[in-house]
Amino acid sequence: MSCLFALSGKGGVGKTTLAGLFVRNLVELGKTPVLAIDADPNSCFADTLGVKVPFTIGAARENMRDEAEAQKISKQELLRLKIAQGLVESEKFDLISMGRPEGPGCYCYANNVLKVAIRELSEKYPFVVLDNEAGLENLSRRIVQSVDVLVLVSDASNAGINTLERLFSLAHEMGVKYRKLVIMVNRTRDGKLPESTRKVVESTGAQKIFALPYDEEIATIAEESRTVWQVSDDNPIYKTVREFLKEITTGN
Ligand SMILES: Nc1ncnc2c1ncn2[C@@H]1O[C@H](COP(=O)(O)OP(=O)(O)OP(=O)(O)O)[C@@H](O)[C@H]1O
Ligand SMILES: [Mg+2]
Repeated sequence: MSCLFALSGKGGVGKTTLAGLFVRNLVELGKTPVLAIDADPNSCFADTLGVKVPFTIGAARENMRDEAEAQKISKQELLRLKIAQGLVESEKFDLISMGRPEGPGCYCYANNVLKVAIRELSEKYPFVVLDNEAGLENLSRRIVQSVDVLVLVSDASNAGINTLERLFSLAHEMGVKYRKLVIMVNRTRDGKLPESTRKVVESTGAQKIFALPYDEEIATIAEESRTVWQVSDDNPIYKTVREFLKEITTGN
């Protein structure tokens, strides 16, 4: 049985950075191989993890029928082949990038492709970290339906917390199932949850709520094209990620 973490939240709040730190720590805990899923067409999850993606599944979604006919295999088989081709394998973790369908196409079909890919691939890994695109898309398109740990990320702003509330409601409306709900309020001024946000955050019934401080080292990661592997061990954000994952992986 695999354990799937899905990170969702407003644009730019730190989802990809945190997802990258999750992958790094799971690797360091020896929970390998870890599967990283980039479900954001505009994402840089691969860059954050320091790998290159030659081929996204989104690009493979086009002309599936013609290609399957030409190769005399079913669309399902072709899809499995494409997923296998799109998987970037490194020593300790693998990464698959969803990309986006090119040109006009049927989104229902594209969505199904994503769902199949997530479901079938995830079964092969003990731990899976899914970095979602900003906002409600993947939830409202029902791409993410059942996860072990839903991590809602926000910044400390009102807009961020409002989005978090909407995401939470939407997850319920869409019947997203999760074992644990965790909220990470990122880039807080002093590592404390602002009083104005506390009520909202607590009303979700989340099992864990973290307030992560603004951190200079993390801020420079994207600016200097560095990866999560270069974050120092005593970084406060990484320390919190480690404490959290220790709890999850030891079943506390
Ligand atoms: N705690 C933090 N302190 C300072 N900077 C941070 C912190 N967390 C993330 N950042 C920075 O914020 C920027 C956005 O982070 P990131 O790309 O992880 O967000 P995202 O939610 O994945 O964005 P998007 O919605 O565009 O995918 C990056 O430059 C990152 O380095
Ligand atoms: Mg991102």
